[in-house]
Amino acid sequence: MCGITGFVGSDGAIQIALESLKRLEYRGYDSVGVAYPQNNHIAVVRSAGKINRLLDRLDGEVPDVAVAIAHTRWATHGQPTEANAHPHRDCSGELAVAHNGIIENYDPLRDELQRMGHRFSSETDTEVLPHLIEHYLSKTSDLVEAVRLSLRRVEGSYAIAVVSTRYPGGVIVARKDSPLVIGLAEGSKLIASDIPAVLPYVKDVLILEDGDVAAITPETVTLSDISGKAVHRSPTRVGWRIEEAEKGGYSHYMLKEIHEEPAAVRNALRGRIYNDRIKLEGIPITPAEWRRFERVEIVACGTAYHAGLLGKRLIEQLIRVPTEAVVASEFRYSDPLVDEKTLVLLISQSGETADTLAAMREAKQRGAYTLAIVNVMGSTLAREAGGVIYTQAGPEIGVASTKAYLAQLVVIHLLAIHWAQQIGAPSMGDGASCSVLVNELKRLPELVAGVLQGEPCIKSLADRLADRSCFIYLGRGYDFAAAMEAALKLKEISYIHAEAYAAGEMKHGPLALIEPGVVVIGLATQPLTNAKLWSNLKEVKARNGTVVVVHTEGEAVQGGSDYQIPIPSASPSLMPAIAMVPLQLLAYHIANARGCQIDQPRNLAKSVTVE
Ligand code: AGP
Repeated sequence: MCGITGFVGSDGAIQIALESLKRLEYRGYDSVGVAYPQNNHIAVVRSAGKINRLLDRLDGEVPDVAVAIAHTRWATHGQPTEANAHPHRDCSGELAVAHNGIIENYDPLRDELQRMGHRFSSETDTEVLPHLIEHYLSKTSDLVEAVRLSLRRVEGSYAIAVVSTRYPGGVIVARKDSPLVIGLAEGSKLIASDIPAVLPYVKDVLILEDGDVAAITPETVTLSDISGKAVHRSPTRVGWRIEEAEKGGYSHYMLKEIHEEPAAVRNALRGRIYNDRIKLEGIPITPAEWRRFERVEIVACGTAYHAGLLGKRLIEQLIRVPTEAVVASEFRYSDPLVDEKTLVLLISQSGETADTLAAMREAKQRGAYTLAIVNVMGSTLAREAGGVIYTQAGPEIGVASTKAYLAQLVVIHLLAIHWAQQIGAPSMGDGASCSVLVNELKRLPELVAGVLQGEPCIKSLADRLADRSCFIYLGRGYDFAAAMEAALKLKEISYIHAEAYAAGEMKHGPLALIEPGVVVIGLATQPLTNAKLWSNLKEVKARNGTVVVVHTEGEAVQGGSDYQIPIPSASPSLMPAIAMVPLQLLAYHIANARGCQIDQPRNLAKSVTVE
């Protein structure tokens, strides 16, 4: 996730901006830069890698200036290089911009600006901003107005900081769909994309809202909206300790990341749906080549594998091509039936999982086309696969994957629909059209946000079940893929034995496990098989197991369950993304009630870079 900081005061601005930036390092980044006024222009010093590499560049030469903005970049458009690092300057070198977010219409804006003669030096979407502001400065001498005029042309999300010789001793900031705060001190002001960065210096902050534009000097903050109308915001007194603030006030990164899921889903969709058509960059596959694939192997580990299980069903439903989801550590030793007519889809949050990398290399050697779904830009998998689609979920710190999983499900849907549209297969097995699925994808962020409101009920259920020692998750169809992921969530953070089964398998053995105290969590979100699922749950209830059912709101809740978790209805393939939210929260609160080390569970690593 990108981080922005800045300081407006009397001196020492660069040091304070970079020290503040260090407090955002937990968010993950791959390049860094700082901008400050020097000799009637704006100097910019940037570096790929970490803040210390930038400090090495400045060592002993840190100019003593009163204004500076700094930025750590989590690459989304353009590789993590010095040239792509922020801040970015205009042609004149008199202004620089640091930006968090994604500018969806940067392509047409860049073309328009280049036709006007503006020269670009990076691959980033951000670089259109300084040139837009420079363009509008030819129409108004008011820098704040030039910033507002520029932002009115932008589609997408932004938190920006602008430093310019036109606004000596001050900084202009603005936000839309990406956080930004202003730290208030006597005779100086700080800016940051997150509260932890300013905590050591101030207790009071102004939390900007979407559409706010702020002109900041050491003594004043002048707020307006994007149209120029004055805006008032009251300061907030921050009571957090720094360690809490890095988690946004949540007790654990995992809980913070669950609550980031609406934004993660929104970002996975961002810039990828135009009039019901799916637009995916980074996949050099022509419609003829899409038609030539005769089978698909989805290869991954852990949570990513569980996303692949859903992908198997969805691709077979939409594309009618045989598709298998395989654990990476098995794939490479199975003498896989893979050739130039096979699409091998590799899913990985980190892009560094050794088993998945080895599987990709095996698939390439056998002539397959390898396509990666990855969260970390510039990771090994992203660089070596034939094509890559980024989940854009932002850095995931908790070892237990949550928001990245939902983003993987979204990208799998985008890919399957894109493939169907490329080959003209617009309908699914159940007759629903791709456009129905596209419209439901657009609703997914709000559906996920709605389910999060039910957290208090989930927590009280977790408190009741936290002392149990055996959990069985049951599902059919898409719900089985979700059950597999839900079981992993619980076992990896609470250390409770938890397994998932295809519900129809219960009578073929696992039913012997049922006795008082065993908890069975049924997922009943698939109209086609719900009746059978409810029968399975009744068999459990008849043997005095404890039954929890995750069901679609409005669905008749049949007898045989002790606790119910209703969730909103959507297309069958999207229900695992919605059902997973309460099940992640349930796992979290059970583990928390047991006093477990949730963000770093015993024996586990966030990225398993060894086989
Ligand atoms: C999931 O919560 C675990 N952290 C683990 O199963 C993880 O999904 C697996 O190691 C794969 O990691 P990757 O997505 O980074 O490849």
